[in-house]
Amino acid sequence: MADTKASVADIFESMSYGPAPESDAPARAWLAAHAPHLRLFIGGEWREPSGGEYFPTVNPAAATPLIDIAQGTAKDVDAAVRAACEAFPLWSGLSGHARARYLYALARQIQKHSRLLAVLETMDNGKPIRETRDLDIPLVARHFYHHAGWAQLLASEMPEMGPVGVIGQIIPWNFPLLMLAWKIAPALAAGNTVVLKPAEFTPITAIVFAEICQAVGLPAGVVNIVTGDGRTGEALVKHPDVNKIAFTGSTEVGRIIRRATAGSGKRLSLELGGKSPFVVFDDADLDSVVEGVVDAIWFNQGQVCCAGSRLLVQESVADRLLARLRARMEKLRVGDPLDKAVDIGAIIAPVQLEKITRLVQQGVDEGAQMWQPSWSCPTDGYFFPPTLFTEVSPSSTIAQVEIFGPVLVAMTFRTPAEAVALANNTNYGLAASVWSENINLALSIAGQIQAGTVWINCTNVFDAASGFGGYRESGYGREGGREGLYEYLKPIWEAAADDAESQARNANGSSRSRRRATLANEAAPATNGAHAEPNGHAYSGHDGSGGFAATGFGTPPIDRTAKLFIGGKQARPDSGYSREIYSPSGEALGEVGEGNRKDIRNAVEAAHKASAGWAAATAHNRAQILYYIAENLAVRAEEFAARIVAMTGCPQEEADREVEASIERLFSYGAWADKYDGAIHRTPLPGMTLADNEPIGVLALACPDERPLLGFISLVAPAIAMGNAVIAIPSERHSLSATDFYSVLETSDVPAGVVNIVTGPSDTLAKVLAQHDDVDAIWCFGSAESAHDVEAASAGNMKRTWVSYGHSRDWLDAAQGEGREFLRESTHVKNIWIPSGE
Ligand code: NAI
Repeated sequence: MADTKASVADIFESMSYGPAPESDAPARAWLAAHAPHLRLFIGGEWREPSGGEYFPTVNPAAATPLIDIAQGTAKDVDAAVRAACEAFPLWSGLSGHARARYLYALARQIQKHSRLLAVLETMDNGKPIRETRDLDIPLVARHFYHHAGWAQLLASEMPEMGPVGVIGQIIPWNFPLLMLAWKIAPALAAGNTVVLKPAEFTPITAIVFAEICQAVGLPAGVVNIVTGDGRTGEALVKHPDVNKIAFTGSTEVGRIIRRATAGSGKRLSLELGGKSPFVVFDDADLDSVVEGVVDAIWFNQGQVCCAGSRLLVQESVADRLLARLRARMEKLRVGDPLDKAVDIGAIIAPVQLEKITRLVQQGVDEGAQMWQPSWSCPTDGYFFPPTLFTEVSPSSTIAQVEIFGPVLVAMTFRTPAEAVALANNTNYGLAASVWSENINLALSIAGQIQAGTVWINCTNVFDAASGFGGYRESGYGREGGREGLYEYLKPIWEAAADDAESQARNANGSSRSRRRATLANEAAPATNGAHAEPNGHAYSGHDGSGGFAATGFGTPPIDRTAKLFIGGKQARPDSGYSREIYSPSGEALGEVGEGNRKDIRNAVEAAHKASAGWAAATAHNRAQILYYIAENLAVRAEEFAARIVAMTGCPQEEADREVEASIERLFSYGAWADKYDGAIHRTPLPGMTLADNEPIGVLALACPDERPLLGFISLVAPAIAMGNAVIAIPSERHSLSATDFYSVLETSDVPAGVVNIVTGPSDTLAKVLAQHDDVDAIWCFGSAESAHDVEAASAGNMKRTWVSYGHSRDWLDAAQGEGREFLRESTHVKNIWIPSGE
């Protein structure tokens, strides 16, 4: 710090900083007015926690308590959820314009109180005032403004969608008010009501926000704030009347929440950790790169989910860049975050400081070279100096684990391919930065990195108009932009079905929700035996005819056991077993292979081999193949319809309709293949923010029992149209529509491995696929029990899931059976930020 008595000449000589503190007086006055403790905001009222328990929130820059916080209990959470349920009809029933006015009022009030919010945020979190004042709070206001706009436009822009209901939102401590805004603004815009639990370390600004809600006259119960620790979060996650959980925080807790909500019917969006690559090519502007690194890893003390914590630099410029970086680090200022000239503030809490210290020590122990500036940090709070590691091996702990502190690990690469391999050498996929003056190279690398956001020649830029969220173990769902809004909307037909079902439930006292509708004539035979296939010969003892069975369309067929379809070839099941497929009257219609875990492994491997090539095929090519499949199916329409009649017993016209609808569906997705394009978001960045709909990779599809052909095609067609490779499990009861389909695929130029089909016990196979770490997403249109198993097992690699919970949809109705919902589930949005200018 500068000597305040120094002369102007001395200051010119040393160029040292003088103190530039932001006044904390208004914030202290606010705290004093609310002392000794803050309360819960439930149903528009301030309440003491039912357990009477409070805990202090601490200023990490001084290690002193600020005020006590209420520990919300399960009872308080229940009261808040009830208040949100009660407010829902009113809030969702308001016109979009009325909701827009409320959101607009919230944005205005946030702006009016921006300085108080910024100072309180800095005191509670420890991040520099420069960040809270210039970034966090302006972005908070921006989110409410932007979503006021969505409230206004929703009815005309997304007329087929409606709100989800009561949303439980759980947020972390690193961007307390910003995360609140990212969650509450879109939820309210879409007509939902919310219960939000702030992080235990940083609840103060959420309480100021609740006061703002009161001040603008937001109807009681629309926003409820329940403070507390993980136990409060857990109660919210488990509450039966919460329709969706939106969570930001650690991958570990994300996993717990995934398992806790499995099978509950709650929607889930997760924004989890990251280990984001910061990739520097030899033609990058190294001075800009140095400033970029400062923003990437020392912004918010590196406690940022998308922090550019892995510096990947092309070998030829590595020494030069690292030298400049060390010189810059030497000039960074760590200290009182309320000082406007401080770059790096305090670490949130001792527990986080210990975690950082431990991981840094582990880096040293594992042989990496650590470098820190010569100056030392203040000792009256929780501070950690900016730290650089070199000589880091890509598999070492510090290169893999999210440190969540001001610690950068540097590695080198030689070629672009090596850069991509290193960048993707992580389980995470939240963000990346790419630095090069060669736009072709930068865009090509951006396309190859598995991450939800890629910044080109910039880093850590955010805006309400652009979606933010992860690939892989960084979670799923987006926040911001049109893509983020879908997290808080569901198709209106689903809401209508829910209403009808709950009325029926009330009428007959049934506790199960929207039971799976089955065709009346679909009853399965009592036995569904699996038969050994000795010496590779099909054996069926069922009709005593050596395996011949009437097909329902005249001539007896040549005995044939359908195999599996893996890697473009018909493959014998590993088990050597097959299972009979019966007609409703119990006649054996044919046999299909009994797939098992090994077959699934082979199918996943085949899908993986095919997926990169298929994703890279032009949309036009994919469309051509879908049309070709349709053409080949049309030629055999009669045969497929007869098979449906035989398997389900439905009338001939029904089966004809199903085949016709299947052909039309293939046409729809042929049409969509080159039309489901992205957007250029209107963010403030000079340049462009491109939102690209990318294929997810390898998708597992457990197809519905109803409409065996149409259900199968309704899942496979959108997934492959968008460039994914799939493993489909056909209807267990009526598998023959899918196995007949092999030959259609074989004659339609579908590349080997793009569509793999494994017949057998649906629920078991779906669970195996959900557990498989090389499957990127799974859809399950099976039973409620299967939905539970799939969701719980998906927590392994945090794959995306889309499950029906045993509810059926009308596959013949295009509003339910095809379209954007399927396309959204087949893709994830990557936002690529491309600045322009000299
Ligand atoms: P955390 O994931 O435990 O906490 C985030 C939120 O979840 C908090 O509001 C917390 O009260 C709540 N929570 C905790 N357990 C819960 C449960 N069982 N059910 C429901 N809610 C629960 O994160 P924490 O402990 O604050 O930080 C631990 C590590 O997580 C950090 O070191 C960092 O690596 C990572 N982290 C990542 C963040 C991100 O934005 N990706 C944000 C915060 C932390």
